[in-house]
Order: sequence, then structure tokens, then C-alpha cells
Amino acid sequence: LAASFGGGALAGLKVVVSAGPTYEDIDPVRFIGNRSSGRMGFAVAEAAAAAGAAVTLVAGPVSLPTPAGVARRVDVRSAAQMQAAVLEAARDAQIYVGAAAVGDYRPQQVAERKLKKQAGADLVLQLAENPDILATLAAQPAPPFLVGFAAETHEVAAYAQDKLRRKKLDMIAANEVGGGRGFEAGDNALTLYWPDGSLELARTSKAALARRLVEQVAARYRAVRG
Ligand code: CTP
Ligand code: CA
Repeated sequence: LAASFGGGALAGLKVVVSAGPTYEDIDPVRFIGNRSSGRMGFAVAEAAAAAGAAVTLVAGPVSLPTPAGVARRVDVRSAAQMQAAVLEAARDAQIYVGAAAVGDYRPQQVAERKLKKQAGADLVLQLAENPDILATLAAQPAPPFLVGFAAETHEVAAYAQDKLRRKKLDMIAANEVGGGRGFEAGDNALTLYWPDGSLELARTSKAALARRLVEQVAARYRAVRG
């Protein structure tokens, strides 16, 4: 309701959110993917829209309906497609939230025909490194306010803070995954880090967590960018 009357913490801002996994094709019937459900990113997109932002949601392969209030959804499959869609959408955006679990590698060649089993022999796949979407955005002349996610199985704080610095992010949301936490769970807990502070967001539903995250993104955005 607040959004429709121009209020809200992100009123007047364009926000791009990426969500879900990427799939990297091996051949016409096989791919390399990951366990991201897309639910955290979709919840962030919904919360940003509820906070008054004009939201573009760039979604990897997920089976989720477009959240209420989201202005535009672009469906992609591979990391390369996600990068192209994000860069296009981010051109006139003030904030990018990278909630997608972008595949780090793709098969060097995508076979045009289904690979046939060679009985008795191992198969070796050569993988090529994918572009880093956040790092690509950070290297632009006037990057949007950049929010990353770090899903880690161990040493969560250290890896998250390292990614914040290395990728030149304005904020990173870290969570522990594995053992029923994170990707496939309905609830989640996050620790937010920015260059001179941090905040723990206690375990709750992904929807409630997304609203709290969006509040903090709005506050940090206003503090840094006015
Ligand atoms: N990310 C990205 N492009 C990639 C890989 C990751 O934009 N090719 C973003 C993710 O959307 C996320 C953040 O970077 O917001 C951290 O992703 P993560 O996989 O944790 O970081 P990596 O640098 O890939 O490190 P690693 O997988 O080795 O932990
Ligand atoms: Ca990665």
C-alpha cells in the first residue's frame, strides 16, 4: 500500500535482483546446476517492490511465480545469459542484489548431440570459468550499490568479509548452508557485513528475513549515496 502512494524505503529507486541457480549445459539433455531454490532472491524482490522500488527480477531456472509488485521478470538459464540480462537491467538501476547462485564454471564445449556412454571408461569434462557478474558490475565507471550473498558451509564470516572486499561490494549477506540449512530450507538466518559494520538477522522465514534485509540495504544506500 505504501508503495502505491510513493512511500517506502526504496521509493523512486530501480533495483535489480538476481535469483536462483544457473544451469550450464553439457549436451541437449544434461547440465551442471546447483541446489539454489530461488526462494531467498524472490523474497528479496518482493520485499524491495513492497518498499517502493521498481524491481527487475533476473531469474535462473526455478519453478516460482513472479512475486507481487515485481515490475519485470527476465528468465535465463546459464551464467552468461544471467550476466547479459543483469548488465542490461542494471544500466539505469541504483541497486543490484546478487542473490543468484551463479555457476562458477561451464563445460568448455556444449555437445550438440547427446553424449553416448563409453562403457568401462571414465568421462572427463573440461570446465571453463564463468564471468563474475558482481565483479563485472563493480568494475564499471559508476556501479550501482552492490549487495552480494555468500552461502558457505564453513568459516562463514571470514569468507563473506573477504568477498565483500575482493568484489568491492557495499554489503554482503552471509549464511551457512548444508545440513538442511539455507538453499532448500523454508527459513534462513543471515549476517550482514558492510565495510564498517555488521548485523545479525536471526533465523526466521525467508519473507521476513528479506524485509529486514531490504530495510538495511535502504539504510546503507541512503547513508552512502544520499
Ligand atoms: N557471483 C556472481 N557471479 C559469479 C559468481 C558469483 O555475481 N560468477 C555473486 C553471487 O551472486 C553472490 C556472490 O557473488 O552474490 C558470492 O557468490 P559465491 O559463489 O559465494 O562467491 P564466489 O566468488 O564464486 O566464491 P566461491 O564459490 O569459491 O565460494
Ligand atoms: Ca561461486
